[in-house]
Amino acid sequence: MAIPDHIIDQIQDRTDIVEVISRFIPLKKAGKSYKAPCPFHHEKTPSFIVSPDKQIYHCFGCGAGGNVFSFLMRYENLQFPEVVEMLAEKAGIMLPRDSLQKSQTNSFADQLYKINELACQFFQICLKNSASAKEYLVSRGIGDETAKKFKIGYAPDSWEALLNFFKNKDIGSNILEKAGLAIANEKGGHYDRFRNRVIFPILDLKDRILGFGARVLDSSLPKYINSPETAIYSKGRNLYGLNFSKEDIKRCGHALVVEGYLDLIIPYQSGIRNVMATLGTALTIDQVRLVKRFVNTVIMVYDPDEAGESASLRSLELFISEDVNVYIAELSSGLDPDSYIRKFGAEDFLKLIKASKNVFDYKFDKLKNRFDITSAHGKAGIVSEMLPTITKINNAVFRSDLIKKLAEKLSVDEGAIKLELKKIKPDFAERRYIVSPSEVKKDSRSAELMVLALLLDNENFIKRIMRDLSLDEFKDSSVRDVVGAISTLYIEKKEITPARLINHLGSTSEAADLVSEAVNILEMLVDKDKALTDCVARIKKDNIKDQLGRLQDAIKIAHNQKDEERVKRLVTEYNSLVKANRG
Ligand code: CTP
Ligand code: MN
Repeated sequence: MAIPDHIIDQIQDRTDIVEVISRFIPLKKAGKSYKAPCPFHHEKTPSFIVSPDKQIYHCFGCGAGGNVFSFLMRYENLQFPEVVEMLAEKAGIMLPRDSLQKSQTNSFADQLYKINELACQFFQICLKNSASAKEYLVSRGIGDETAKKFKIGYAPDSWEALLNFFKNKDIGSNILEKAGLAIANEKGGHYDRFRNRVIFPILDLKDRILGFGARVLDSSLPKYINSPETAIYSKGRNLYGLNFSKEDIKRCGHALVVEGYLDLIIPYQSGIRNVMATLGTALTIDQVRLVKRFVNTVIMVYDPDEAGESASLRSLELFISEDVNVYIAELSSGLDPDSYIRKFGAEDFLKLIKASKNVFDYKFDKLKNRFDITSAHGKAGIVSEMLPTITKINNAVFRSDLIKKLAEKLSVDEGAIKLELKKIKPDFAERRYIVSPSEVKKDSRSAELMVLALLLDNENFIKRIMRDLSLDEFKDSSVRDVVGAISTLYIEKKEITPARLINHLGSTSEAADLVSEAVNILEMLVDKDKALTDCVARIKKDNIKDQLGRLQDAIKIAHNQKDEERVKRLVTEYNSLVKANRG
């Protein structure tokens, strides 16, 4: 991050997280902290905590957390420099005008938005001039109004049309490469990324152009190419079309989730406007949180063939675990929303939406086809497939209600299903709040997380950890990154507070979640000294176990290769490792 740390620290110190967050959501005082229902996931009982002492927030429900900067980035969907600017103004801090950083970071993103805007205009003009592209849009049933609304364009069949367009504006190929519009060749030159393709600009909630999708006019491959990840575009953080549909989605109280560009555009054109598109990728947690800012109920619209696939089911479960109500609408085989509406019309499409099933009925009906529901074997099969989905539900009442229903449907004892439920290993989301040192002995990630928490408690602990553990003994790479940052700050003799640490880590949402989680673990710990000793021992033990496992594998391989020399050497190594760590 190019804005000088001391300025960020200054802004941090002069800003009160409680004051800022209460501008957006009502906070209630609860002891030393403040509470509210979490704005990043749907809930009735508040598990969103803001700590004025630590200047951080954390949600025990969904795990979102961070400082005031990360809150604004997440809630307002802003870039770090934009938040800095906003808070600096409030705090009465002048950002150094000529300091490259601010103008650089800030205007770099701005520059890319500007370039995308110009490129989009260029593509739109090219569409007007291309008979074949216009003809293609007609063949897909896209009207002029719709093309204009969605800023659809055409990239001409040329290696340098866009490059030349920008050359005339004194914008060079290097920045076009950073914008994802040009690709470098081996000779150090550049060529246009998008050629002879229909262009679909991808807009954010502020109608800025983040990137582009581009489709061939015929059946050649690849069918689509898209902008790469750039400084302003990250695929997993956006949903196509939400900028157009967000008001309609709020009004309807539910959103249709589709996959493709046309699967959004065609329904929209025919008056079904509460739609957003994932662009064919697996759903991410950031996207789910984005959805939840507008609505609590989604209907996934699928081709029945692919809906049964585990990838789509995983998306469903991500919604469930974030307390979003999910329904599934199935189209006839081989049709997507675009082709369905073109074939049968919007009214028929809406009938299918009305007939959508909730996840459990949906999944149960699928399983009924796979298993023999009358046999004990079949029943057990269905239960074991249903339980992982049921465990994703956070609300215990809903969960138990579903277990009851499942028991009734299969005519088996409810107690038996509950027994099976207990056997399922809780997944990561459910393990993250393990806090007692005795629990730590079972789980090395919580040990690493607890070490991280303790490092934030006191500098002696930092000294101890730097002496007793090396960075690569941490297995979780995010924890490793944060611990690394702490030791750097410590060596540089900088003051380490959780809120400052998050800024230092570049305010990524992952780092922010992690630090705030660690802080909350810390508040529940009683004997910190013992906890640290236990955790270090646990981490070391786990590493040695891994090392021994790897040696065993190597011995097996050497043995199979009849490399006796090597077997001997490895066995000696194995034994001395065991010996060194006994007692
Ligand atoms: N997709 C992509 N790259 C590909 C194929 C697909 O990015 N090579 C994305 C596009 O966003 C596409 C979506 O995944 O819209 C769904 O893919 P698919 O169902 O294969 O295409 P359709 O959207 O149905 O494409 P079309 O109707 O234009 O043929
Ligand atoms: Mn299609």
